[in-house]
Amino acid sequence: MTSSELYQMFDSEQFRSSGHALIDLLAAQLTHELSGKAELIHWQPPVEAAQSWQQPMPEVAELSHSDFITWLQEEILPRNLAMHHPHSMAHQAAPPLPMAALCDLVAALCNQAMALYETGPAATLLEHQAIHWLTTAVGWSHGTGVLTSGGSQANLTALLAARQHAAANIWQEGVTAAPPLRILASELAHYSVKRTAAIMGLGADALISIATDQQGRISLEALKEAHTACQHRHEPVMAIVATAGCTATGSIDPLQAIGQYCQAHGVWLHIDGAHGAAAVLSNQHADKLQGIHLADSVSWDGHKLLYMPATVSAVLFRNTADSYLSFAQEASYLFNDEHGEETDFNLSYRTLECTKRMMALKIVAAFKLYGRKGMASLLDHVFALAEQFAVMLSSTPGFELLMHPQTNIVCFRYHGNVSNTAVLDSLQVHIRQQLLHRGLFHLSQVEINNSIWLRSVFMNPQTQPAHQQHLLQEIIAIARARA
Ligand SMILES: Cc1ncc(COP(=O)(O)O)c(C=O)c1O
Repeated sequence: MTSSELYQMFDSEQFRSSGHALIDLLAAQLTHELSGKAELIHWQPPVEAAQSWQQPMPEVAELSHSDFITWLQEEILPRNLAMHHPHSMAHQAAPPLPMAALCDLVAALCNQAMALYETGPAATLLEHQAIHWLTTAVGWSHGTGVLTSGGSQANLTALLAARQHAAANIWQEGVTAAPPLRILASELAHYSVKRTAAIMGLGADALISIATDQQGRISLEALKEAHTACQHRHEPVMAIVATAGCTATGSIDPLQAIGQYCQAHGVWLHIDGAHGAAAVLSNQHADKLQGIHLADSVSWDGHKLLYMPATVSAVLFRNTADSYLSFAQEASYLFNDEHGEETDFNLSYRTLECTKRMMALKIVAAFKLYGRKGMASLLDHVFALAEQFAVMLSSTPGFELLMHPQTNIVCFRYHGNVSNTAVLDSLQVHIRQQLLHRGLFHLSQVEINNSIWLRSVFMNPQTQPAHQQHLLQEIIAIARARA
């Protein structure tokens, strides 16, 4: 290629014209999805769908820039799950705020590596700003933290700090130099907690699962018993993990009581608030998280109830010093004294990632554009939708509610006339598949107490009670057609 052809690959005029066409396309798609007129999903079994993705790597260009926009329009967007569709209610991923998506475009083009202040000055300061806002919202005056690519990584980062706190020589000497460390968490804790125990070399069995009550909240009695048993076996508990918004049911563990217990016994408390931490922003729902400030560390996903595009999460620490515990390593080319007073600003001390994305722009922008009140209103709205749906389910014959929702997650099932448990389970699976394969509604399913439940996660403020009513009608029709 000639140097002028190479330059063309970076041409700003081309970027401008393609960008305009792209934004027009995406805006039209957004309108279409929000209105509910777009196809929710064009279901194709993956093996069948994969047939059209077998082309070899092109040796030379095969699309013009305008062909590329057409390709997006015709081949990619129609094969997406429509996240802004009011019938999309399966998972905790947000229908992102469009302005936050634009911020991701800025982040992508500016591509600030961010390991050091000098590799992303504005990006670094934005991240400190976002972290300061989030730690203050949690109720800490001297908290700090870092943004991570996802809640799983936030949990890993927090628990690495807890491990170092429990056994200071572990970073250098490895787990064999320490007594068998244990982590206690609810049986409904996210799988990333168990995965973290295994990644840290403690073994997945180091995670001790604690029973929950009828509302899916950790049983305090069982937690205390498990802790005492660990003490008797000389197995130090490096952390208790409480969940603020369990993945399956949205249940919130009793944070205040667990926090007090941890403080009294000198145990690190990590609160996995990946799903529900945003409730601290809400005047209506903040009391559900009472006690969150007692945690040593908190995970909080932006791409859930802060309505950010994936991925952006925060791991927050009550004490600044603790945020340096996760990665106790030296890397002379990054971490040298030459940086002087810049050192505190360099995020690389606190994060697994070396190259990091400018993730904070979208968070800071959202609060600047909509304020705490606006952001809280999104959450208030979807929590109210879950409440309305629970009432609707309770008053519609044939439906059973697993538990009253504590957040925006509602688990339920349809009985019809079925009483056999195996048939009941297979009916739920059938209902979910039919809804999905026919592109009607997107629900998920969970197994709780050995039974299958349908799970709806209300994330989209465009979802209305009429959509919920429609869902129940479709479920009844599917069940009747199967009978
Ligand atoms: C409670 C909880 N913790 C952690 C995670 C993991 O977050 P991520 O998917 O961002 O890695 C989830 C995700 O669903 C979650 O619900």
